[in-house]
Amino acid sequence: MATLTAAHAGTFRIGGELEVNRLGFGAMRITGEGIWGPPADQAEALRVLKRLPELGINFIDTADSYGPDVSEQLLREALHPYQGLVVATKGGLTRPGPDRWVPNGRPDHLIKQARDSLQKLGVERIDLWQLHRIDSKVPRDEQFGAVKQLLDQGVIRFAGLSEVSVEEIQAAAKVFPVATVQNLYNLTDRSAEAVLNYCEQQGIGFIPWNPLAAGELARPGSALDDIARKYRVAPSQIALAWLLERSPVMLPIPGTSKVKHLEQNVAAVQIKLEAGELATLDKLNS
Ligand SMILES: NC(=O)c1ccc[n+]([C@@H]2O[C@H](COP(=O)([O-])OP(=O)(O)OC[C@H]3O[C@@H](n4cnc5c(N)ncnc54)[C@H](OP(=O)(O)O)[C@@H]3O)[C@@H](O)[C@H]2O)c1
Repeated sequence: MATLTAAHAGTFRIGGELEVNRLGFGAMRITGEGIWGPPADQAEALRVLKRLPELGINFIDTADSYGPDVSEQLLREALHPYQGLVVATKGGLTRPGPDRWVPNGRPDHLIKQARDSLQKLGVERIDLWQLHRIDSKVPRDEQFGAVKQLLDQGVIRFAGLSEVSVEEIQAAAKVFPVATVQNLYNLTDRSAEAVLNYCEQQGIGFIPWNPLAAGELARPGSALDDIARKYRVAPSQIALAWLLERSPVMLPIPGTSKVKHLEQNVAAVQIKLEAGELATLDKLNS
């Protein structure tokens, strides 16, 4: 029997060109508590990263602010030169301390951060760079202009946005081609539904962060239990199978610091939910 890998989730072409398997990995959880400093178990975090290509995961999401720097540095240590992998990073959030995130969208800062990510990741060009937040203290067109400059200078190949509305995507798209959008989205929080629908119409990759509601959807005791029992899988796997089914532009990036959880998340690609089950899950939106 063929090994089950993320390739079973099908593929998506970022910017119409860069093909990735639709089930990816979020590298925020390989840092310390409060997304600050090194992970509690660095050896296990490195094992998680080294396992990614073996499991067919070729789309990895990180950010300069995860750690800060720790996530990008560990990715380099485990996976450089990233053969066959697409590493997406982000910039635009600064970190005064654990659990604290402060936007800085000044164009010179964004450009410096992206260039620093080049160094930390050890690449000549970043595959996909995302503006982590639009900074309300800086005119947005200046921030979009910085992204365009990074594209024009070849520092980054494709560009995306995070936590944006449809109107903001449209405004950014006047300045640079928006390849992806990364918004909070999962079974129980679908506030980004309109954005997802817009991305689907436009062929923009939609990267739902918190696909497991930060682990909430992995715990037993939710409405997912009945369906999970039928398939003899964990509730988290049902949550991921639902996301993959929801849209062909959906690129979930569940995050974990543990190989066991990573393997479990990848195994979700084999689940084919029935119409009645999808209808039941659709009603879980709170
Ligand atoms: N753009 C943004 O503003 C933004 C914000 C937040 C996150 N992100 C990105 O989105 C990615 C995913 O979001 P997230 O990591 O916050 O949330 P998530 O993927 O919904 O959940 C991650 C949490 O669930 C646990 N988990 C994962 N798989 C599990 C499993 N099979 N069984 C039990 N527990 C499991 C993990 O703990 P263990 O380590 O114990 O497995 C971790 O605490 C991040 O890694 C990051 O790349 C982006």
